[in-house]
Amino acid sequence: MLVLINIAIFFAAVVGHNIPACKAPAYRLNDGNHMPRFGFGTWLGFDNNQVPVPVTDDSVQKAVELALEAGYRHIDTAAIYDDEDQVGKAVSNKIEEGVVKRDEVFITTKLWNDKHACDSVVPALQESLQKLNTSYVDLFLMHWPFATESKFSMKFVETDYLETWQGMVEAKKLGLAKSIGVCNFNLGQLQRLWNNSDVKPAVLQVETNLNIQQPELREFCHNHDIAVMGYTPFGSLFPSRARPGAPPPRVDDPHLVAIAQKYNKTVPQVVLRYLFELGVTPIPKSVTKTRIEENLDIFNFQLDEFDRQHLKTYHSNYRVVDVKFFSEATYYPF
Ligand SMILES: NC(=O)c1ccc[n+]([C@@H]2O[C@H](COP(=O)([O-])OP(=O)(O)OC[C@H]3O[C@@H](n4cnc5c(N)ncnc54)[C@H](OP(=O)(O)O)[C@@H]3O)[C@@H](O)[C@H]2O)c1
Ligand SMILES: *[C@@H]1O[C@H](CO)[C@@H](O)[C@H](O)[C@H]1NC(C)=O
Ligand SMILES: *[C@@H]1O[C@H](CO)[C@@H](O)[C@H](O)[C@H]1NC(C)=O
Ligand SMILES: *[C@@H]1O[C@H](CO)[C@@H](O)[C@H](O)[C@H]1NC(C)=O
Repeated sequence: MLVLINIAIFFAAVVGHNIPACKAPAYRLNDGNHMPRFGFGTWLGFDNNQVPVPVTDDSVQKAVELALEAGYRHIDTAAIYDDEDQVGKAVSNKIEEGVVKRDEVFITTKLWNDKHACDSVVPALQESLQKLNTSYVDLFLMHWPFATESKFSMKFVETDYLETWQGMVEAKKLGLAKSIGVCNFNLGQLQRLWNNSDVKPAVLQVETNLNIQQPELREFCHNHDIAVMGYTPFGSLFPSRARPGAPPPRVDDPHLVAIAQKYNKTVPQVVLRYLFELGVTPIPKSVTKTRIEENLDIFNFQLDEFDRQHLKTYHSNYRVVDVKFFSEATYYPF
């Protein structure tokens, strides 16, 4: 019975508008806008010492161009990624070439922690828009619930995220962001925001992968019509990104390989499909053409209940993005 209800909910959520030329179905957000249910990540990530990889070339621009050619219509960036200009150039180039129109691409960017004062939010977004070479973003997310004194500072400021949210609401009212939402809020923070806002968050972006499947946040979001976007969708799947002691599975796990063979798919595709079937919008990142194409190719098969139950067993609440260096902040979420 529960299975049938879940399947019904799944179809109710995915059937609906399709953005032209987009391979992923769209999701109707609680503010009436539509979001493609599959996106493209553009963060270059941390190196082995948990230091952000610096942006030194145009690999992000090239990757976004490949992604748009492959059929992605949803691009995820952030002020702190230092690549909004590259996303902007890629989208502008593909508009000029006639591959896409601006209103067919869903662009997300994020507010960094040093811009949490209510009256800093709109100017911060305007700066992002200039780099993105566009007059609006489709989605503006608060990157973290806590605030810092400056961009790379670990000195925390007590600004309440409810105050920051008022700035986000202003950005929406001005038409600079079509939709607004948050990242990395825990359940209590999300409930508090919900209880204390007239304009509700349309999206929650949180780490979601086999090791951290977010059952409580997904349930709250489902019940409150908040779309869940899943970042770092591969978790510790690839040995290159698995820290010492990271829980299984890896990409060569025999059980996962067997599941993938059964559907004539790859293990990364099975993982992305599983997240998609949970109702999550995955935003995998790759700068490699074959992988960019591989990752999007998950809309022509469906996992059976037996395989879904197995994939569920990997949940252990383990985070890749654990940011313990932020743990002194009052509003630290984890
Ligand atoms: N809101 C937040 O706080 C937050 C935090 C983290 C991430 N994010 C967003 O979420 C996006 C995705 O997360 P992520 O970049 O951390 O991790 P991810 O997408 O789970 O993994 C990216 C890594 O997987 C590799 N990869 C991708 N597809 C592959 C495939 N099919 N086979 C083998 N390897 C593959 C990539 O390699 P190559 O690139 O070398 O191909 C890269 O090393 C980010 O880019 C960012 O936009 C948001
Ligand atoms: C920005 O967009 C305009 C069209 O709106 C285009 O003419 C211009 O080349 C773009 N700039 C960059 C740097 O891509
Ligand atoms: C939010 O409101 C609900 C319903 O009134 C209540 O049960 C919950 O405790 C509130 N949570 C917070 C954090 O304000
Ligand atoms: C399996 O997948 C590959 C790659 O997508 C495809 O070329 C091949 O035709 C598929 N085989 C079957 C039996 O569907």
